[in-house]
Amino acid sequence: MLKIISLLLLFALGQERTFACDDLVGQSGRAAPVREWWQSAQFYQIYPRSFMDSNGDGIGDLAGITSRLSYLKELGVTAVWLSPIYTSPMADFGYDIADFFDIQPEYGTLDDFDKLVQEANRLGLKVILDFVPNHSSDENDWFKKSVRRERGYEDYYMWHDGYKNEQGERVPPNNWLQAFRGSAWEWNEERQQYYLHQFAVKQPDLNYRNPAVVAQMKRVLTYWLDRGVSGFRVDAVPWCFEVLPDETGRYPDEPKSGYTDDPDDSSYLLHIYTQDLPETVDMVYQWRKLLDDYQRIHGGDRRVLLTEAWSPLDYVMKFYGNRTTKGAQMPFNFQFIVGGNGDKNNTNLPATGFAKIISSWLDKMPSGQVANWVMGNHDQRRVGSRYGEERIDTMNMLQMFLPGVSITYMGEEIGMTDLDISWEDSRDPAACNSNANIYEQFTRDPARTPFQWSSSANAGFSTNATTWLPINPNYVTVNVETEKAATKSHLTIYNQLVELRKSRTLQEGGTSYAAVGENVLAIKRSLQNEKTYLLLANVLDTDATADVTSVLRVSGNFKTKISNMISTRKEGDTVSADSVSLRPYEAIIVESD
Ligand code: GLC
Repeated sequence: MLKIISLLLLFALGQERTFACDDLVGQSGRAAPVREWWQSAQFYQIYPRSFMDSNGDGIGDLAGITSRLSYLKELGVTAVWLSPIYTSPMADFGYDIADFFDIQPEYGTLDDFDKLVQEANRLGLKVILDFVPNHSSDENDWFKKSVRRERGYEDYYMWHDGYKNEQGERVPPNNWLQAFRGSAWEWNEERQQYYLHQFAVKQPDLNYRNPAVVAQMKRVLTYWLDRGVSGFRVDAVPWCFEVLPDETGRYPDEPKSGYTDDPDDSSYLLHIYTQDLPETVDMVYQWRKLLDDYQRIHGGDRRVLLTEAWSPLDYVMKFYGNRTTKGAQMPFNFQFIVGGNGDKNNTNLPATGFAKIISSWLDKMPSGQVANWVMGNHDQRRVGSRYGEERIDTMNMLQMFLPGVSITYMGEEIGMTDLDISWEDSRDPAACNSNANIYEQFTRDPARTPFQWSSSANAGFSTNATTWLPINPNYVTVNVETEKAATKSHLTIYNQLVELRKSRTLQEGGTSYAAVGENVLAIKRSLQNEKTYLLLANVLDTDATADVTSVLRVSGNFKTKISNMISTRKEGDTVSADSVSLRPYEAIIVESD
């Protein structure tokens, strides 16, 4: 199988050279010259509840973030993306918004937000907000008005009478499922109709077939642009539009997927009528137009969109836009999360698996567009828990070395790992809507534990006796303060990567990559008249020696520039391209003379 893939790849690239049969090789041209700030930016995702608590209530807040912006500046971050900070009953920790125009009181006030933006700008950092277009909270005034059928709000949400079954009992309109288990339809006593909620019961879906909703959500964007944000991460985009009902008003059932026998699990169905519709792509183009128009009128740097879609790649690529219409600058590349062995366990992924993940995006990306690399986020297991703790630096190296935009979830720079959260301590609706026996399959709490600043009480996150989620006991060694002081740590390695990323080669250079056998992933970044850099990573637990001269078209000696925690190589140590020996899980970046 691998041979077939390498042959196909070589064929596709029109290469004439011969490679060892089990090498998997790929390349992408010179990266687009960096014209706009975001094209080689380092984005950093903050989960506000868990970043820094300034007022001692055990919950992170805006003033806490502001107080740590200088840490982000030092870390080389270009733009900070904040997960939702808006008024919310917190059924889905801010992804259920009661007021799109105000701040959740436990996080602070609009004034605190303005201060945060001001301080970020002073430091040269940009602020990106989470835009949650698909749904609001059921506590949002729009929903309350819609329940009461107030004029202008009657069709703000997706309402339906449902049906009577043979026993005369009321049943939901169809079999659609919510992401957090069970029917996506909820009966509302007051309005005497069902409403659609593709996420939690408290997250009713807005009706994008209603122009008033489309206009309202554009107002939301403009409101925050006016407060100085540089763009938006757009939440759960594929869910915005549903198929139109037939002439009797019936929405079709979705077919079974065959993936699971659990009829409450959302993956029980194929979401062909509720996700990935063409209208949704057009909506993203409209938002991009709004951002560009805003910039034309108000000046300043380009405002950007990062879109979240766990959809087939052909669909995701549409968000980039087409020849006539611009779309999101950064449709999230989740291939390092969904690729490999699935989202839970990639600890044994061989080098060929890594190379396939890289090519899956680069080969599909429309020409002229910029790649981005997302290794994890607040919905996924942490990178060290998914790829193995031995590969934490390797993953950060990949994130920073591959061409384009890097998007780091807070804590990955210090190598934070998942904390198993007991059923009693669970907070995530994805866990709490299941039961004590199965919640661990669904919970997103383990990657949301408070940030680890130091080895003092509560990891320096809060002065409260307790924190909203427990703190990972490994904070004693895994924390910013300790890692900063160490001669070598995940953080110092991350800092070296940040420095290297500033080189013209990494900013603009071409990329070739190859899996040499199952062990060694080799990536070259090169640019005429500039230094060439190689990332050489043994991704498995056995020793390996690789000759990368033919696969990467290099020769001679290179010098060690950066090495991971496992490596004993020192800066400046010579590495010969025709015989690179790497210990289990050793990863290095070397430079040409
Ligand atoms: C996105 C968010 C996730 C949230 C969901 C519903 O996937 O990342 O945290 O639960 O959308 O808004």
